[in-house]
Amino acid sequence: MPFERITDRESIKTDLLGWCETVTEVTNPRQITDFLRSLRAVREFKRQPIPDAVVQDILEVARWSGSASNRQFAQIIVVRKPDSLQALAGAGGYAGHLRGAALAMILVMPGEWAEGETFDEGRLAERIMLAAAAHGLGASIGWFSPEGRPKARDILGVPGPKVVRTAISMGYPARAPRREKRKPLNDLVFEERYPS
Ligand SMILES: Cc1cc2nc3c(=O)[nH]c(=O)nc-3n(C[C@H](O)[C@H](O)[C@H](O)COP(=O)(O)O)c2cc1C
Repeated sequence: MPFERITDRESIKTDLLGWCETVTEVTNPRQITDFLRSLRAVREFKRQPIPDAVVQDILEVARWSGSASNRQFAQIIVVRKPDSLQALAGAGGYAGHLRGAALAMILVMPGEWAEGETFDEGRLAERIMLAAAAHGLGASIGWFSPEGRPKARDILGVPGPKVVRTAISMGYPARAPRREKRKPLNDLVFEERYPS
């Protein structure tokens, strides 16, 4: 598979330039950008477990996600038990899709620096979803509502003031994801100055 070599951990750790060259060697840039652009939220899953080696590989990508000052604020709880997924799906918010997922990765943030932690949380969630997609898995973010967050913490045994806000449901997709539209680039990108 095309991404086999670039997930080699030793080359990532020891030879970053070599890693960049390897990426363009095994594939062309458009294959990678097409892959990045194709990421969509998947909320319906097959009843099929995810192999441990795949979960491990996704978690390795998560571990290498950049964070403010490289402090790695985030911790991750992997939830597989159907009862726990069911309870989390009902905790409050928009995470009902956890109910049918093969597993969930729940992000636990320290709750000490909202701005920085929230940025890291978004980066991490996106990387987890991309790593899952590289393995043919679908995933979706689900946010617990402010009222749902303490309930999610209780279900998982997470003490305050830590924050449990983001859940990522994951599994093999049951059907093709919805094709939601995007604004045209002209509405989003400007040259040099904001238009008056
Ligand atoms: C900060 C954030 C919070 C989100 N919260 C939820 C959520 O609570 N439940 C949900 O189903 N999707 C959630 N999503 C996923 C968005 O609905 C999704 O990214 C958007 O609709 C685009 O979907 P698409 O990429 O499949 O086109 C969230 C996404 C982000 C970035």
